[in-house]
Amino acid sequence: MTQYVERFNALDRVLHWIVAITFFLLLLSGIGLFAHTFFGYFRLFGGPHQGIMVHKWAGIVFFISSVLLFLRHLGETWRFDADDRRWIVKAGGYLSRKKQGIPQGKFNAGQKLFGLFAGLATIVMGLTGYIIWDPTAFTRELTQFSLMLHGAFFTLFMIAMVVHVYLATMGNPGTLEGMLWGHVTKAWAKKHASKWYAKMVKS
Ligand code: HEM
Repeated sequence: MTQYVERFNALDRVLHWIVAITFFLLLLSGIGLFAHTFFGYFRLFGGPHQGIMVHKWAGIVFFISSVLLFLRHLGETWRFDADDRRWIVKAGGYLSRKKQGIPQGKFNAGQKLFGLFAGLATIVMGLTGYIIWDPTAFTRELTQFSLMLHGAFFTLFMIAMVVHVYLATMGNPGTLEGMLWGHVTKAWAKKHASKWYAKMVKS
């Protein structure tokens, strides 16, 4: 009997890693525009002109793949039941020494909130990015407001991403395997997503 359970199919994984790679390309090619201190990062791409070109093209690929990833998980992420509300009140037990063990579906409530935030942030970054693409295309006020929103959501996205990457790797060993190879161990599934696991063994 296998000790694994399937978590993500090939399409889920390819989409997720396109999103992750383009996110970091956007970070490296955009940070030189965010603050003068980081201007040197443009050297990675051969200069500011080339860096901005990479930022624009990576932005298009990121926007499309991130919206698709958001829609792919929306069936799970938009529904919050009583266990999810308990999870939020207790912050998933991450701030407590006692083991909480609140039963969760495929994604815990924190992951659902992250998935919804990532979708919203992608749409805001995409729309504001379109407006600032050519600084002469829209009114000065709209361009400046979009620049401000683009920078604010970049900051929020970065904070969310640090938390996401930590929790999906070192914070919860065994989680990354699901996104790399498609399966997790049954022990992982029982511990982190017991309601989802129960559904998987029934079907
Ligand atoms: C090095 C970077 C990244 C790593 C190591 C990573 C890792 C993971 C892993 C292991 C999962 C599966 C979690 C599970 O099975 O419960 C996951 C899910 C997910 N990832 Fe990432 N990820 C990265 C970057 C990103 C980026 C840049 C985005 C979006 C902008 C993103 C969005 C998501 C979403 C929406 C999910 C599904 C819901 C969730 O788990 O919160 N990830 N990621």
